[in-house]
Amino acid sequence: MKISVIGCGYLGAVHAASMAEMGHDVVGIDVDEAKIAQLAAGTAPFFEPGLPEILRAGLASGRLRFSTDFADAASADVHFVAVGTPQVAGGDAADMRYVDAAFSSLLAHAKTGDLLVGKSTVPVGTAARLADLVASTVPGATLVWNPEFLREGFAVQDTIQPDRLVYGVPEGAAGEHAARVLDKVYASAVSEGTPVIVADYATAELVKVSANAFLATKISFINAMAEIAEVTGADVTKLADAIGHDARIGRRFLNAGVGFGGGCLPKDIRAFSARARELGKGEAIAFLDEVDKINLRRRTRVVQLASEAVGGDLAGKRIAMLGLAFKPHSDDVRDSPALDVSMKLADAGADVVATDPQAIERARMLAPHLTYESSIEETLRGADVVVLLTEWPEFVGLDPVAVGSLVAGKRVIDGRNSLDPAAWREAGWEYRGLGR
Ligand code: UDX
Repeated sequence: MKISVIGCGYLGAVHAASMAEMGHDVVGIDVDEAKIAQLAAGTAPFFEPGLPEILRAGLASGRLRFSTDFADAASADVHFVAVGTPQVAGGDAADMRYVDAAFSSLLAHAKTGDLLVGKSTVPVGTAARLADLVASTVPGATLVWNPEFLREGFAVQDTIQPDRLVYGVPEGAAGEHAARVLDKVYASAVSEGTPVIVADYATAELVKVSANAFLATKISFINAMAEIAEVTGADVTKLADAIGHDARIGRRFLNAGVGFGGGCLPKDIRAFSARARELGKGEAIAFLDEVDKINLRRRTRVVQLASEAVGGDLAGKRIAMLGLAFKPHSDDVRDSPALDVSMKLADAGADVVATDPQAIERARMLAPHLTYESSIEETLRGADVVVLLTEWPEFVGLDPVAVGSLVAGKRVIDGRNSLDPAAWREAGWEYRGLGR
């Protein structure tokens, strides 16, 4: 099938390359010339395991190309819109200007019979509004909302083998036809028995934001338990294991620590709350404000633990930060707890030295005042406190005996509860976790 993908960021670049991998003829379009030049040269503009391989394979096969010209979408029959919806400056709502611009540029080149497929995470009601625009601009074209659930670090796998597909379609024959076309686009996933949920626009939009709200709530729930564990001497990791054995609860997303960050969960729960307030139903999801607050409190807690570890005054203390990305296997530092805590420690006068296997360059753009080291050894050298905030395997696997000789003070704060407290204590370290 002939496909265009509008927007070649984290979502769109992976989607375009995955569609080519699935056998389609794909053009990826973005207004960012530098990004398009990189992609066209077979280089992924961000770290995502598996993406460089399928990108290069797609380009070599001739099935994948990239362009900055929306006119190149004209030859495609199915157009995915995968642009970002970041948080607006100074507010909670989603900034819709990229979605609106993408649709208006695309509609100038779309034709009767085309399928326009929204993948961006949008406030509920957006698809209905855009469907009116599509109907009035290109009669006979159909809008579908097909939310994306990919996780960074597993984005290629999640796109090629999704755990479910959701199609938000209009009522009637046009909607039925659109669902059949999308089944063809996702033929390999559908034939493997991937569940396909066909719904109205509003449900499809809400599936995405409610899934992210649920995941964020699960994380903040366990982090709230961590706060209680801290004042009672309980161990939140054992608690999570114990409640996680209940199949109704499940152990995944119950890892207490410095909390969630990234380009999705934080801004999505805020945008959802803002939309609910607009709809006069703010009270229905007011708990999400609490979820956000619990999450941000964990960052302050890490700063407090670091301060306690050095006797109350961080000024001039050397803090070694292990991790900058919002999670392992990603170079993304958008709303990263690790980078936020690093900046808070620096604001408190600490001498912060940070490392990360992938995220240093992106962190440096946002926080040029911090010191960065590419080697773990140089980061740890002379440190008064070591703080682990992104659980990369190379950090989790550190030998507490071997690294003990590098630091000035054997104090470790395990912001992801991923080290073995017994092993670190045995090696002479003061170990502090979050809620354990
Ligand atoms: C998320 C959703 O998982 C995905 O379905 C959606 O499409 C986009 O948003 P992503 O942002 O890539 O994906 O990361 P995810 O793996 O969900 O982690 C989000 C944050 O939560 C990370 O900062 C992670 O460290 C944190 N987290 C996750 C916890 O603190 N504890 C956990 O138990 C799980």
